[in-house]
This record gives sequence, C-alpha cells and structure tokens, in this order.
Amino acid sequence: MPSPFPPQLIQALRNARSVTVLTGAGISSESGVPTFRDPQAGLWSRFRPEDLANAAAFRRNPQLVWDWYAWRRSLVADVAPNVGHLALAKLEARVPEFTLLTQNVDGLHSRAGSRNVIELHGSLMRNRCLDENVVVEPAAGDEGRPPKCPRCGGLLRPDVVWFGDPLAPAALTAAQEAAVRCQLFFSVGTSSMVNPAAQLPMLALQGGATVIEINPEPTRISDAVHLSVRGAAGAVLSGLVMVAWPDAV
Ligand code: OAD
Repeated sequence: MPSPFPPQLIQALRNARSVTVLTGAGISSESGVPTFRDPQAGLWSRFRPEDLANAAAFRRNPQLVWDWYAWRRSLVADVAPNVGHLALAKLEARVPEFTLLTQNVDGLHSRAGSRNVIELHGSLMRNRCLDENVVVEPAAGDEGRPPKCPRCGGLLRPDVVWFGDPLAPAALTAAQEAAVRCQLFFSVGTSSMVNPAAQLPMLALQGGATVIEINPEPTRISDAVHLSVRGAAGAVLSGLVMVAWPDAV
C-alpha cells in the first residue's frame, strides 16, 4: 500500500524535535475495546451516560455504576495493545521530545511501552475517594460491592473523568503546553466532540505545528487540519513508522 503521507512530512517527522499525539477510543477499537459514539457498537449507543458516568448517578446508585466500571475493567484486562499502540511507543523512542495525550482510560498505551503519557480522562486502574478526591491504587474490590476509602470510610469511585467533572488541572496544563510547543501534532481515533481535549489540535495549529488527523471517518476538525488520513490507526501508524525508520523493529 503506498504511504498516505507526503515525503516532506516523513522528512519532517524524522527531523522533528517535538511531536505530540492525541488519541481517542478509536486507537483501542482494534484491540476490541468499544468506542463511545460508534452508531452500532459504541458504549453511548447501548448505555446512558446520565445513568453511569456522573457523580450524581454514582451517589444515587453506586452499585450500578461500580458494576459497569468493573465490567469495563475486566474487558480491558482481557485485551492486548495493538499495532497502533506499539507504533506510538516506537515513535517515542525516535523523537527527542514526545508527548502522548490520551482520552482513553484503558491503560493500553502504557502496556504497549509508551512512557510520557498524559491520561486526560483518568484511568480505570485507579480509584479515588468520592468525598476527599484522594487517589487509591491499584483499583481494589472489583468484585462485589463498591469498596470504602481506607482513610475516611467513604465511597471509592473510579478515577476517571465523568460528565461534569473538571480535568485534573496539571494534566490539562501539561497537555496544552505540549500542543502549543510541538512541531508535529497527530490526532488519532477521536471524534473531537468532547472539550477540552477537542481544542488541543486547534491549540497546536495556533502554535504553528503541522497537524495530521488519522481516522476512518471525517470529524469536526478534518477541514481545519493540514492532512486528514482516512484509515485505521493500526495500519496507518505502523506504516508511518516503517516508512520513516525502515530499520525500526
Ligand atoms: P468516540 O467514540 O467519540 O470517537 C471514536 C473515533 O474513533 C471516531 O471518530 C471513529 O471514527 C474513530 N475510529 C474508529 N475505529 C478507528 C480505528 N480503527 N482507527 C482510528 N480511528 C477509529 O471516542 P472519543 O473521541 O475518544 O469521555 O471520545 C471522547 C470522550 O467522549 C471519551 O474519552 C469519553 C466519551 O464520553 C468521558 O467518558 C469523559
């Protein structure tokens, strides 16, 4: 298959001092993790976020919410990183300043070997106290009832961002800085529907970066970016790394 990337872009990637990548659920779909907004299999076509993904729902029915997250944790535990995750880990090894921003809570980037990962929407693998906000890891009590905070005895919730929750300020600031200062910015497998993550490619454009989108479908940012590659993350990213560094194993 010919590379969808022009030779100048491959050269720019080889020479880049700073690259930032933003990922969404699409990169994990090839591992078998459902996306959110796919009309057939997306989580939000089968479940109601107002029942499952906000603090009020958890206070109302902790067991229901806990069980749903326990199901998602077990789903993620049973799958493996795919060639798209692995290609990003290889890219990090080649670029002096590489930042991976992810909206995913599945931990697959770290399992693939990525190191400088900012988890904008938290992680399924951790819990935090609903009242005190203190993080407790590893996630405990996946079976049965929602566990209690070892400090205050209150309820523990998954350490993920729910609707109505702010993002962790330090993570958001670091993500914004990485978007503004990079030379190349890739937006991979995200519908770009959810702010503030959806604003990061725009910040990168304002900062002067070349912005590339990788997604089988057009998104809200497709017309604004420099190059929108229509394809699955696994094939496109592994192809990109192979073309840029043919010796990469
Ligand atoms: P979405 O489900 O909104 O979008 C997934 C995107 O991945 C879509 O644009 C698909 O076209 C694309 N896609 C599907 N398969 C792909 C593949 N193999 N390779 C590349 N792209 C593919 O997921 P997100 O954009 O990640 O937040 O959603 C953002 C946030 O909305 C999530 O983090 C979650 C959700 O509500 C919270 O729960 C706070």
